[in-house]
Amino acid sequence: MKGNLLYEGKAKQVFMVTEDPDALILSYKNDATAFNGEKQAVFQGKGRYNNLISSAIFTYLQTNGIASHFKQQLNDTEQLVEKTTIIPLEVVVRNIAAGSITRRLGIPEKTAFTSPLLELYYKDDQLGDPIINDEHARLLTDATGTNLATIKQMALQVNEKLQPFFQQVGLALVDFKLEFGRNAQGEIVLADEISPDTCRLWDLTTGEKMDKDVFREDLGDLIEVYDAILQRLEAVK
Ligand code: C5P
Repeated sequence: MKGNLLYEGKAKQVFMVTEDPDALILSYKNDATAFNGEKQAVFQGKGRYNNLISSAIFTYLQTNGIASHFKQQLNDTEQLVEKTTIIPLEVVVRNIAAGSITRRLGIPEKTAFTSPLLELYYKDDQLGDPIINDEHARLLTDATGTNLATIKQMALQVNEKLQPFFQQVGLALVDFKLEFGRNAQGEIVLADEISPDTCRLWDLTTGEKMDKDVFREDLGDLIEVYDAILQRLEAVK
C-alpha cells in the first residue's frame, strides 16, 4: 500500500510502500519545467504519458539485460520501483548535437557524432546542475573510479539498446539523460525515468521534434506529441 510522501521533485512524487521497505512508488506529475525551473507549465495527461512511456522503455531495457529499479507499472500515473539511493549525477549521452552542447561549444544543431558523446553533470538544483568531469564526480559523490566506469558503460549500453528501439518507430534518439542509484544490495542500477521529458526524439522522416523541446521552444502541443510517441510504441508492443 502507498505510504508517506518521501520526496517531491519537479516531475514526480516518491512514496514509501507500507509493506515493503525496499520498494517505492513513483507518481508522475503533470508539471513541466525547463531551464532549471525558470519556465513552468502544467499539461493535463503528461504524467500518464511519461509513466506509460517510461514503463515501456524500462521493461524493454530489462528484457535486454539492463539492471534497473523498475518493478511494474501500477496504474496510469504510478509505478513500483526498487528503493535506491540516487547517485547525484546526471549522465547525458548524445548521438546528435542539440540543446546545451550547441550553446556551450558552438557545435551546430543536427551535427551527428561519430561515436556517442557522454557527459556528466552534478545533480544539484541550487547550482543549476553544472557539467563536471570524472575527477569532480569522484570528489562530489561516493562513486569510485570503478563505479564511474560501470555507470558510463551502462549508459552506453542503454544507448545501444534504445537507438534501434526508437528507430523501429521512426524516431532518432538524439540525446538523453540517465540517473543511477544503489539498491539495498549495493548494486548500481538504472533509476529515475526515461521519457520524452528526458530524451530528445526527432521524427526520422520529417525531423520534427517530438519531446520536451516542444515546450522549451514553444513549438506546438506537447500532449499531442507525447500521445504520438506512446501510440508508436504501443503499435510495436
Ligand atoms: O539541456 P541538454 O541539451 O544538456 O540536455 C541533454 C538531454 O538531457 C536532453 O534530452 C534533456 O531532455 C535531458 N535532460 C534532462 N534533465 C536535465 C537536463 C537534461 O532530462 N536536468
